[in-house]
Amino acid sequence: MTSSLHTSPYTSEEPEAPSPNGAAVVGDLLDWYREHRRPLPWRSTRDPYCIWVSEIMLQQTQVATVVGYYERWLERFPTIVALASAEVDDVLRAWEGLGYYSRARNLQKAATRVVEAHGGELPASVEELRRLPGIGPYSAGAIASIAFGADEPAVDGNIIRVLTRLFGLRGDPKRAPLQSKLWQLARALIPAGQASDYNQALMELGATCCTPRAPRCAICPVARHCRALKSDRVLQLPEASARKVVVQERRAAAVVRRQGRVLLVRAPATAARWPGMWQFPDVTLLPEQDPGAQLESYVPRSTGVSIGAGARIGSLRHQVTRFRIDIEVYGCRALEGRARAIEYAAVSWVAPDELGKLAMPAAHRKIARSML
Ligand code: ADE
Repeated sequence: MTSSLHTSPYTSEEPEAPSPNGAAVVGDLLDWYREHRRPLPWRSTRDPYCIWVSEIMLQQTQVATVVGYYERWLERFPTIVALASAEVDDVLRAWEGLGYYSRARNLQKAATRVVEAHGGELPASVEELRRLPGIGPYSAGAIASIAFGADEPAVDGNIIRVLTRLFGLRGDPKRAPLQSKLWQLARALIPAGQASDYNQALMELGATCCTPRAPRCAICPVARHCRALKSDRVLQLPEASARKVVVQERRAAAVVRRQGRVLLVRAPATAARWPGMWQFPDVTLLPEQDPGAQLESYVPRSTGVSIGAGARIGSLRHQVTRFRIDIEVYGCRALEGRARAIEYAAVSWVAPDELGKLAMPAAHRKIARSML
């Protein structure tokens, strides 16, 4: 008699706990949220522009980081019209450190579109919001519900985690069929007229309680409904999406000095990485390549300035999208040649006290700081 030993614990033969009662889950969730929500700055406004800015900032960034950026952004660009008419350099500078800079560029492009096509007022419907640059299904649902009170779902990473656990949903949440099932479920659970609190309550639960690696089920307001908890699968859900391969990249960067200034280059607006931002000239290092020799050949080709590479003055590691970049930094002397934008949108000799005005990616800002 061995047959029962061959039964996998998660096949359909296992009797599943019944699916939770949606209305009861949402009732408990809203009661909890209204008592325990964090007093975040975008929760004390209904101004659609403020909600929009907060949702775009929150897409890839933690709440604790976003708060300061959000407040400074609204001081700098208090209205959609102000953002639309700002210099793109100022927009990137205000975003510096948040990463994923296309979010900032798209915010400004969308602001321009809103001024031109909607009289400066953000449209209220999901369909119109979706037509604006940088607004996908999640942001459109979040803005429509939070700023305009529409009964729309908004499924982000936090909500995926909460719903897959509560309802015991298996599969890859980034792909059909589970992805469409999650949107349908999130929509079906909306308590009429309360989508703003409902969406934010799900996000809040995911951020503060139903966390990825150390969920706090003992204090969870909806633990009694949770199918994953009943079947001891909390850490197994959501199932992991196929992982993207991390690409290792080695680069050498040159801190080239002349008469108290340093040589900086600005990536073209079409560059795949850091378009429009300022950085130290840098070059890929293939295995076995000598950093000093690569810089001495690349910097003159791309900027017109020939250099002599000196000592290595530091190194840093930086993760951006799926790249892990190790940058070795070399102090260099300028030999001859006028700075020209050959490979770049601009090349400039910058005084150290002007560096703070330029938008730089985090890795290069670190080099600038360590140099000063
Ligand atoms: N993450 C995304 N949107 C959010 C919001 N409105 N409040 C808290 N966290 C969020």
